[in-house]
Amino acid sequence: MGIQITPSILNADLSDLAGEVRRIGSADWVHVDVMDNHFVPNLTLGLPVIESLAKSTQLPMDAHLMIEDPDRWAPAYAEAGCGSVTFHVEAAAAPVRLAREIRAQGARASMALKPATPIEPYEDLLAELDMLLIMTVEPGFGGQKFLDLCLPKIRRARAMMDKHGVETWLQIDGGVSLETIERCAEAGADVFVAGSAVYSADDPDAMVNELRAKAEAVSAPTHVGH
Ligand code: DX5
Ligand code: ZN
Repeated sequence: MGIQITPSILNADLSDLAGEVRRIGSADWVHVDVMDNHFVPNLTLGLPVIESLAKSTQLPMDAHLMIEDPDRWAPAYAEAGCGSVTFHVEAAAAPVRLAREIRAQGARASMALKPATPIEPYEDLLAELDMLLIMTVEPGFGGQKFLDLCLPKIRRARAMMDKHGVETWLQIDGGVSLETIERCAEAGADVFVAGSAVYSADDPDAMVNELRAKAEAVSAPTHVGH
């Protein structure tokens, strides 16, 4: 799999989600941020909205669950038709069991790390995951500034994946823009969430293609294969 762009609709017009998703036809996935006002200090949308959106778009849905107790709630997002379901390891009681349950529902299982959460304790879990999400802002809001301090963790995660020969995708979320995407791609990321960069552009679909071109142009020395 090459570079993938997954626009976040968090900063789109939430009263017209179907219309907003039609503006990003070149995207690989639609990234949907689910927030419960407990795990993060913000409240967005949940299963009923995702079920409706799934009927109105051909794009696969990439659900990012910023919620407490994902062990209880995450499998339902897979069942609702999300192609990828990401839970936060900081909130999960049993991440291995949860990843297996998500896969058993037919979705890709993904685990997210907040900026201060290290990757090292989870090295042996990588084979259980279809994707690892490294947050490059504190989760909760769109439009925040990219945290460069996360770049070494992205590099270390890519090195671990190469060492173990796993096919796990490495997704980055937060502050991704034309200015920051090259740094992430160089560090070894291959799936890029971009919210405000895409939806504040005059032509969101053109921005998706520009972001992809920038990331593809970067050669990643530590990023072998894929
Ligand atoms: C933040 C969300 C992100 C957010 C990204 O908690 O997980 O997906 O929408 O927005 P930007 O790209 O504006 O940082
Ligand atoms: Zn997100």
